[in-house]
Formats: sequence, C-alpha cells, structure tokens
Amino acid sequence: MDRIRILGGVPLEGSISIGGAKNAALPLMAASLLTGETLTLSNLPHLADISTMANLLAQHGVMLGLNGADSAKGGFAGRVMDFNAAKISSTEAPYDLVRRMRASVLVLGPLVAREGKAKVSLPGGCAIGTRPVDLHLMALEQMGARIELKEGYIFAEAPKGLKGAHVVFPKVSVGATENTLMAACLAQGETVIVNAAREPEVSDLAHCLVAMGAKIEGIGTGSLRIQGQSSLHGAAHAVVPDRIETGSFAVAAAITRGRIELVGARRDTLESVEKVLLDAGVVLEEGAKGLIVSARENDLVGVDIMTEPYPGFPTDMQAQFMVLMATVKGASMITETIFENRFMHVPELVRMGAKVNVHGASAIVRGSAKLSGAQVMATDLRASVSLVLAGLAAQGETIVNRVYHLDRGYERLEEKLSACGARIERLKG
Ligand code: UD1
Repeated sequence: MDRIRILGGVPLEGSISIGGAKNAALPLMAASLLTGETLTLSNLPHLADISTMANLLAQHGVMLGLNGADSAKGGFAGRVMDFNAAKISSTEAPYDLVRRMRASVLVLGPLVAREGKAKVSLPGGCAIGTRPVDLHLMALEQMGARIELKEGYIFAEAPKGLKGAHVVFPKVSVGATENTLMAACLAQGETVIVNAAREPEVSDLAHCLVAMGAKIEGIGTGSLRIQGQSSLHGAAHAVVPDRIETGSFAVAAAITRGRIELVGARRDTLESVEKVLLDAGVVLEEGAKGLIVSARENDLVGVDIMTEPYPGFPTDMQAQFMVLMATVKGASMITETIFENRFMHVPELVRMGAKVNVHGASAIVRGSAKLSGAQVMATDLRASVSLVLAGLAAQGETIVNRVYHLDRGYERLEEKLSACGARIERLKG
C-alpha cells in the first residue's frame, strides 16, 4: 500500500489550482440515469470515487466516453466525460461497489424514477458513524415507492411511476435531498422538499437538472419545489469547484505560515470557512486568479467552531481546522454536530504533539503545540488530509499510511503541494 512521506517545516508559497468538487460530481454522474440522452460533465476531478461511480454506472448499462481534459485547466484537472443511459440494462447496485463508496446509494432515486424499480445494496456503517439511509427511503416511500429491506439490499418498486409528494425532512441530509430531487424530476406532479440541504453541491445538481429540462424552484434554499416531467434530455454541465479542497489548501497555507493562491476558488461557497480563518488571523486577499491565503507566525489565535449544515461550518473541514488550531495561540473548542464519530484523527494528532481532549461531541484544543513528525494512519478521507497538514507543519519526518483514503478525494495532492515548496513524496508499495 502506498504511503506519503513529508519533511515538514517549510512555509508553502505558490499557487494551486482547485479541481471540480467530488461531492458534486458523484450525484451529477448519477443524474445521467434520468435521461436516455447524453449528459456531458466537465471539470470532473480525477479521483478514485469518480472511477467507482463510473464503474457502477457502466454496470447499469450507461455508456461512458472520456473526452480528455478541459484545455482551460492546463490539461490536468477538469476531465470531460459523456454519460449515455439510452438503455439501462441492470437496476441492481451490487454490494461490492456500494460498500466501497456510500454515495453509490445516489443511483436509487434515479433508477426507481426512470425504471420503476431498483435493488441497491445497503451501504452499512462507515468509519465516521452509522450513517443510515432512512431519510432517502422515507422520501421515496412518500412518493409511492414500495420499499423492502432484505438480504442486505434495498428493494424499491414503483411499477406505475413515482408521484409528487410533500416531503419534510426531520434532519438536513445532503444525500437524501439529492436522491429525492432527482426522483422528483421524473415523478407525476409536484414535489416539495422541506428542510432540504442547501449545500452548493445540491444546488449544482439542481442547476444541471434544470439544464436537462427539469422544473425546479427554490434552488439554494431549504425549500425545493419540483414539477415532475415525463422525460429529461441531455445537457452539458461544468462541475462546481471543490470548496473542501479549497479549504484544505487554505489551511496548508496558514499552518505553514506561508502564502498560496487558490486558483479558481469559488469564494461564495466558502463564507463560513473564510469567516473562521479571518477570526483566527489568517489573511485572505482577492488575487488575479483566485483567493490568496497567507499567515504569519504569532498572528494566529484560537477560534471556536461548530459544524453545521451549509451555510454553517462544514464537517468535512473539521479535522483540517483542528490541526491548524493545534498550532496557534490560545485554545479552541470544536463541536461536531453532523457525525457521531468524527474525531478519529485526534489520537494520531496527539501522537504528533497536538494537545487535544475530546468530551462527547466537543474537542478542546490547546494551542501552541510544537508538532513533530511521526508514523500515522487515518480511517477516513478528511482525517487523512489533516494528518498531511500536520506533517507539513511538523518538524521532522511524517509518514502517512493508508493513502487510498486521500486518493478518494484529493487529486494529485503531493504534486500540488510540492509545487508550493512542500517536501512531500509518495512511497510506492
Ligand atoms: C455528504 C457528503 C459528505 C459530508 C456530508 C455532510 C457526499 C458524497 N458526501 O454525505 O462528504 O460529510 O454530506 O455534509 O456528498 N442521516 C440520517 N438518515 C439518512 C441520511 C443521513 O440520519 O437517511 C444523517 C447522517 O447520519 C448524518 C447527517 O444525517 O448524521 C448528515 O448526513 P448527510 O448530509 O446525508 O451526509 P451524506 O449525504 O452521506
């Protein structure tokens, strides 16, 4: 298994181009199941999760075409792919693909809406919490689907098609909102989703669906109103830039007390992250090509955060922010409200010298730690990147194991960081 080796202590200087958002790309790819015509997605990141979704779609019968890279992006990021689901040959999403990536469950809504049935493996637990899919199923049932859980699978059936419904989510869920939104586009009549997730990735999906002929009002709000159509058509859509990748590299600049321009960052999706960085003393400036993030030693102070659904502070930035807080003056209280088990990076950070105590859903970080390199490993994507960030700030050598987590969500991570002066390399094997 590959590992990443970092020699820390170098202030990073330079520019990094931000790729398309993984969490937008995955539902957008699933949306290709809603039409028999071609959906062309550009600015797709080159990541393991994207390949997993492509494999899943291929086994549903979707024809995939890889059109190379967006020239505007310098031939690196920004792949263009065609998805054509003229014929859906299988409505089953098997266990071995779903267990690899929970977002596979996003094929459920489109398959039931278009084919009247689906058999999708239950995703099961994952490292950061139990993560049930009850809200996805509740919404589809309200739209008239019959759902049965057996043999580890969700069996969903709506032989006469789905019907519009008034769906009130008791809790904000990104995935459940996306599944319901996609299903509602092909349901008969009107669907209203109350307490919908407002994440930019949900809005990106909604804009793409509108380009495919869907009628959706309230995009970007907590109340989505969808008029179902008998069919959708093909479209071309560019995936929104990744706000979590942007935030992660912003922390890389701040934690090494360096200066990085984040090329193509979408600042309107980053407001809560920007506010916290500013409160901590990080300097943010508008550059010619994107957001310039810089920080100086002694200028940074602890800030409290609480993770919340968008537009609140994202849970996917919590681990990265904690590492930064470990190195600043003063204390910080970090409260995780989205997932019940998302402090698994803490023991590893403590081994690197961070002073962190967890009490239930909150962690107290006592700052001014002098981090030192160590052998570490993490059990999920954002925890892994937080260890890389810690390694960049630490004195000496850090080896991060289980790099496959990073490959799920960060494209060319070592390359992007080493272009800014980081001493980082991948050890094969
Ligand atoms: C998405 C993101 C993930 C991010 C999360 C929260 C993708 C591919 N992944 O995950 O990176 O961390 O949003 O911003 O976009 N829940 C239920 N029942 C359900 C569904 C969810 O109780 O049926 C709970 C979850 O356990 C969690 C909370 O709702 O506590 C939010 O989860 P959700 O927004 O659904 O996360 P995902 O869509 O899985």
